[in-house]
Amino acid sequence: MGTGTVVVVGGTQGLGRELAQSYADEGRDVVVTGRDQARAESAAAEIGAATRGIGFDLAEPHAIAERLADVADVDYVVLAAIERDTNSVADYDIAGALRLVTLKLVGYTEVVHALLPKLRPDAAILIFGGLARDRPYPGSTTVTTVNGAVTSLVRTLVIELAPRRVNAIHPAIVGDSPQWIDMPPERHQALVSRTPIGRLVTMAEVVGACRFLLENQAINGINLSVDGGWMCM
Ligand SMILES: NC(=O)c1ccc[n+]([C@@H]2O[C@H](COP(=O)([O-])OP(=O)(O)OC[C@H]3O[C@@H](n4cnc5c(N)ncnc54)[C@H](OP(=O)(O)O)[C@@H]3O)[C@@H](O)[C@H]2O)c1
Repeated sequence: MGTGTVVVVGGTQGLGRELAQSYADEGRDVVVTGRDQARAESAAAEIGAATRGIGFDLAEPHAIAERLADVADVDYVVLAAIERDTNSVADYDIAGALRLVTLKLVGYTEVVHALLPKLRPDAAILIFGGLARDRPYPGSTTVTTVNGAVTSLVRTLVIELAPRRVNAIHPAIVGDSPQWIDMPPERHQALVSRTPIGRLVTMAEVVGACRFLLENQAINGINLSVDGGWMCM
């Protein structure tokens, strides 16, 4: 495992924050980002002393490079941010779709572009997609589209960034994540009944899978589903 900086874009909350915390707990230099500078700084202070917070909006990609200008010596880049867009083709919200498509596809790619000169030769990139790429749900049209595109983004970045590694993680609904922890019991039960392990996956399990993708030097170009076997049903 490397010793350089771990950058978690979308690290102020949820899965990104949990992963940032696991590296900070090992004494690594960590940078967490979110939309707001003060919120990012406050999350960084809670995570640990060697953690720094930076604020920028991924849906405004022209401003990203300047905000990351003094980040150096990067081992891992984790792209975890999301601004959820509930959308369907029948009732299409162009503004919401444009924000999420820009954030996940152009914003994520611009972060990699901005950090490229700072990446160690053995650096690794991890992109968050999600199982909605394979299993749409009502209102998931933009989420399904961008998560599907993450699969292709991995392939082109593997070629462009070689010998650095690029992988993606596609979790199913993570039951104890802030997004889902308060879901109605009947929805929870319906999801559990479709999951062979008899429960939803956890934040700790997703963090473990993220660390495997980042740290195992042979793992490259993988789109890993973490779903407890959901896709088998
Ligand atoms: N939770 C799940 O069950 C689940 C399932 C499948 C896939 N995923 C994927 O896993 C990733 C993390 O999900 P999560 O549920 O843990 O996220 P979350 O709790 O909703 O947190 C989202 C993060 O993204 C940041 N963010 C939001 N909009 C942004 C923007 N426009 N520019 C920059 N940063 C922005 C937020 O920072 P601020 O609020 O500080 O701005 C926050 O740190 C996402 O990519 C999601 O698609 C999650």
